[in-house]
This record gives sequence, structure tokens and C-alpha cells, in this order.
Amino acid sequence: MYIHVLGSAAGGGVPQWNCRCRVCALARTQPELVRPRLHASLGVSVDGERWVLCNAGPDIQRQINGFAPLLPQRNTRGTGIRAIVLNGADLDEVLGLFQLREDAALRVYGTARVQRALSEELRLLPALAAYCGVNWQGLCLDQDIALRSADAAPIGLLCRAFPVAGGPPPYAGRRDEGAPEDTVGLLFTDQTNGTRLAYVPSCGEITPELISLLRSVDCVFFDGTLWHDEEISALGVSGKTGRSMKHLPLAGSNGTLEQLSSLRNRRILTHINNTNPILIEDSPERSLVEAKGWQIAEDGMELRL
Ligand code: MLT
Ligand code: MN
Ligand code: ZN
Repeated sequence: MYIHVLGSAAGGGVPQWNCRCRVCALARTQPELVRPRLHASLGVSVDGERWVLCNAGPDIQRQINGFAPLLPQRNTRGTGIRAIVLNGADLDEVLGLFQLREDAALRVYGTARVQRALSEELRLLPALAAYCGVNWQGLCLDQDIALRSADAAPIGLLCRAFPVAGGPPPYAGRRDEGAPEDTVGLLFTDQTNGTRLAYVPSCGEITPELISLLRSVDCVFFDGTLWHDEEISALGVSGKTGRSMKHLPLAGSNGTLEQLSSLRNRRILTHINNTNPILIEDSPERSLVEAKGWQIAEDGMELRL
């Protein structure tokens, strides 16, 4: 399995356009200390040619132009993207679909709740119907399906959605209690060599079932949004806490690092918010995370399983 990190930041990217918190300021003035990052997205492939993208966020155009295997190779029009799989319907996961409207038929996988949010609340699917249309494919919780490209050819990957208590997107959440299918983790299996990858950019609750799933795979990308639950509210810029956004913080008792301390496989934090001190190369928080065996995703990072 080939894995390419197309982006590793939470909402706003790093630096965020309107922010001069410590991390954003360093990302502008000392990029060797804080590497700039695009909105989180991952490319997965069994052969390095046919790619599945996890999510299509606001940076999709830069992400495609910056990674040659996604560019047209042989014909006048073309793409290395065979399918897009969605973790959820939040804007950072779907705004890029609007930008891909020149394609003939985007094949997009997501749960029924994500489809509903995109149809009825955001109206993305009806809007795109006037352009390329979306070839929508349903994902059911806890069921493996073989991913296929728009022409229905298999691409050598199984995908399974699993619940992570990530909640509905903010634009749908006020009218809505939420359901387990609103935000999911994604489990990919390479059908050629059997390797398995879990991609979990949002997680609101860690259950024993989730821990045993994460322990069973070769590599985990996990929600590294915030160090402290009150990291954003402490800046005095917004009342948002990690738990209110359904992102468990990394630190503290019952934080992600403690709850996932039994993992021994390759484990990488991604979807990192621009307020998170682990983004600073020489910070004590980053050293602590690394001492616990976690890596910190950066854009352009590549893995081979
Ligand atoms: C989210 O996933 O809730 C956002 O990306 C978090 C944020 O706004 O930083
Ligand atoms: Mn996000
Ligand atoms: Zn910032």
C-alpha cells in the first residue's frame, strides 16, 4: 500500500489566514520551526497509479498540482484519482468537491448520513448535478466494500467505515441530535498484500472496540487536533473546546495519548490544529508525543506498507 499525506492540518490550515497565535506566527516567520500545512487529506493506492483520496478539502487544487501521480498522465483530460472516500460532511472534508466539478463523473463514497447532509443541508450534491454530477456510493458501518473507479473497475482496496463519535457537521448540527454515521473512521485493506491502514482524523470518544480495531492494523493516522481541550478558548478568540467540536485532546487524563497507550504499531497524528504546540519542532509537547512512539504528520510524507 502506498500512502501519501496531502495535508495534515485541521480547519484553517497552518498558518490560518486570520491568526497570529504563537504557532501561526512561527509558521510565517520560521517555517523550519513550524512547517506550513494544508487541510488534512490522505492519498492511498495499491500501485502508486490509481489513488483513493480521503476527503476533498479546500486545498484540493494545490494538493493535486503538488503530487504528480494525481495529474493527467496519458490523455488530454485525466486524473490519478479513482475515488474519494469521505470521513464526514464537514466543510474541510467536502469543499474540494466543488472544485473538481470539471470531471466527468466523480466517484464518491460516504455514509447515508453524510449523503443526507450534502444533499439536504449543504445542497452540494444537487448543485454538482448541474456540472459533473457525483457518482455516489454508500458506505455502511462496519462492512468492508471493494472500492471501484467511476468505470466500475476495482482498484484493489477494501474500505470499511467505523464509528468514532465525531458528530454531524456544524451546519447540520443545530437541528440534529447526531448519529454514529455522521463522522467515521476509515479502514483500508490492500487486497494484494493484506496490509491495513486506519484513517481517523476526527474522534470524539475512544471505546474498547476502537482500541482493538486500531491495534489490529499496520498503521494508524489519528486525530491530533488539539493538545489541550481549552487550547482555542484560552486564546480568547472563540468559545470552542475540543470536546464541543468532538475532538478528544491529546494531553491529560483520558486524553488520546493515555487512552491509546497500548498501541505498538506505526502511529501518526494528523488533522492538527494551528494552535497545537506539537507543531513546533522543538517544543516539549512534541518531544512527549514522540517519546510515546507517535509521529507527527507533515504534508508530503510518504509511507509504504
Ligand atoms: C473540525 O474538524 O472540527 C475543525 O477542523 C476543527 C477546527 O476548526 O480547528
Ligand atoms: Mn476538520
Ligand atoms: Zn493560529
